[in-house]
Amino acid sequence: MFAASVVAALLALPFTSVAATDCARSYTVKTGDYCDLISAQNNASTYQLAVTNNPSINSDCSNLQPGQSICLGFVGQDCTTTYVVQGGDTCEGVYTAHGVNATLFQHNNPQLDSQCDNLYIGEVVCVSNGAAVPPLPSGAPMPAATVPAGATPATPPAITTTAAPAPTAVPDDEDCDDDDGDDDEDCDDDEDEDDLPFCDEL
Ligand SMILES: *[C@@H]1O[C@H](CO)[C@@H](O)[C@H](O)[C@H]1NC(C)=O
Ligand SMILES: *[C@@H]1O[C@H](CO)[C@@H](O)[C@H](O)[C@H]1NC(C)=O
Repeated sequence: MFAASVVAALLALPFTSVAATDCARSYTVKTGDYCDLISAQNNASTYQLAVTNNPSINSDCSNLQPGQSICLGFVGQDCTTTYVVQGGDTCEGVYTAHGVNATLFQHNNPQLDSQCDNLYIGEVVCVSNGAAVPPLPSGAPMPAATVPAGATPATPPAITTTAAPAPTAVPDDEDCDDDDGDDDEDCDDDEDEDDLPFCDEL
């Protein structure tokens, strides 16, 4: 009896945490959907969509099924003010345009690195002026920590100090640099060559 009640108490714990993350909005996946499209159309950030559906949506969002119901945001952690990243955007440009400070922007988009060089075109970011973000589940990978395969960074990578390899010198074809006419055996040449009479036109 005692053992059974302990088990019941332990089993009850997970339900307490589930209740703390009730889904505020849900969405039914359509044919042709992909995560960032759903995010853009429903004002749910890339990070938020991934975290609220972890682990049912996999890390590269390749397992969406038409008809599947997904959660767009948890109650109390649901950012509905979003922006779809365009080419040439920077984090500073995005948060400034939306009247959000850097601290809050970073808090609501924890996947963005401090250099903001993993921001990519089509990524959906939270530009709410209030904290609204689900925590990353323990053990879960950070969504969009790197620019996904097939996506384009919003800002071209900074120029690095590593010098590009010097172009390999192409041997000059001295025989065809034809200022002196002395050694032009290999070249088609309008000049008659004294030493190659058989090359002359007959
Ligand atoms: C998303 O936000 C935009 C801009 O505020 C709004 O016009 C649009 O209706 C919102 N869409 C949804 C699905 O909430
Ligand atoms: C950023 O903005 C939020 C919301 O307006 C505010 O509460 C917070 O103090 C600001 N932080 C800084 C560092 O300015």
